[in-house]
Amino acid sequence: MIDPTAAPPQPKADAAPLLAWYDRRRRALPWRALPGERPDPYSVWLSEVMLQQTTVQAVKPYFEAFMLRWPHVEQLAAAPVEEIMKMWAGLGYYSRARNLHACAKAVVERFGGQFPATEADLLTLPGIGAYTAAAISAIAFDRRAVVVDGNVERVVARLFTVDALMPAAKGPIRRFADGLTPNKRPGDFAQAMMDLGATICTPRKPACGLCPFLGCCLGQKSGQPEAWPRKAPKAGKATRYGAAFVAIRADGALLVRTRPPKGLLGGMTEAPGTAWLASGLPADALDQAPFPANWERKPGIVRHVFTHFPLELTVFSAMVPAGTLAPAGMRWISANEIGGEAFPTVFRKVLAVATA
Ligand code: ADE
Repeated sequence: MIDPTAAPPQPKADAAPLLAWYDRRRRALPWRALPGERPDPYSVWLSEVMLQQTTVQAVKPYFEAFMLRWPHVEQLAAAPVEEIMKMWAGLGYYSRARNLHACAKAVVERFGGQFPATEADLLTLPGIGAYTAAAISAIAFDRRAVVVDGNVERVVARLFTVDALMPAAKGPIRRFADGLTPNKRPGDFAQAMMDLGATICTPRKPACGLCPFLGCCLGQKSGQPEAWPRKAPKAGKATRYGAAFVAIRADGALLVRTRPPKGLLGGMTEAPGTAWLASGLPADALDQAPFPANWERKPGIVRHVFTHFPLELTVFSAMVPAGTLAPAGMRWISANEIGGEAFPTVFRKVLAVATA
């Protein structure tokens, strides 16, 4: 008997239309196996580490350069870490590059060069957290794993109109994602969710008309899918200020130092400079120059946005005589070594201002 007063059944999403959409619309990505091909776990791992906090567009050339230079995990494991840091320069979050090397060595030493397939084993490797372990297990080995990154969070929050505020919503979102993850083709499902988040269920102006979940997505039915995931308003992050000193010797050599191995830009090369303080550039910044010289304040400011704060650097430059010695903890690099150093993007901006 049908009860005419009963509430209409809740729309229930399932994976089948998404997988059918993926079969038609999957993105061709350099690390992605073609339909019917067996994925290469090394490519999947490398791409997932590069894609942490970084866009697909930014990752593509780095992924291709790494695969060309180190096509197998054994080769990456045997490479000097400094070479890996240099190849990584510009991609950001440099602890990933150190962990990449440590992970490659661990795969060779502990797993005979074969990436493990289970999330539990993957989690024992450097640089592999819960998300990356799930993504590798699903994508490279087609094992059922709940793969939730920022894109997937957005899709699931809209699909089920998860009303809790982020980050508290992460738990409920994960449970909904788990309920949606199929036993068959979990790897394709994970990649389909990522593609859907990147191309259809975008942060602004989602293209609901093209979505395989059209008709069962509660966010779309609400008419305001952009309202999910719900976020508490953000407190502004205080800008920090500092100075960088670019000393160039008469023979073209550049004065640099290596940052401490741990922490922001750990192990990367930079010009000497002051501490970066929220209270502003200290009036005595020039007293912190590496040595007395004819320091010239360059016009303009270097602005760079790190995850936890925006940075504004004032740049001073000086030409110094050929015999000038490097102070303790610093070194000169010759003009033709500059291109190959592991310079982070912020320091490349400093050099551009210094030499403008
Ligand atoms: N973002 C993170 N991992 C990804 C993948 N494997 N494909 C596309 N986008 C991604």
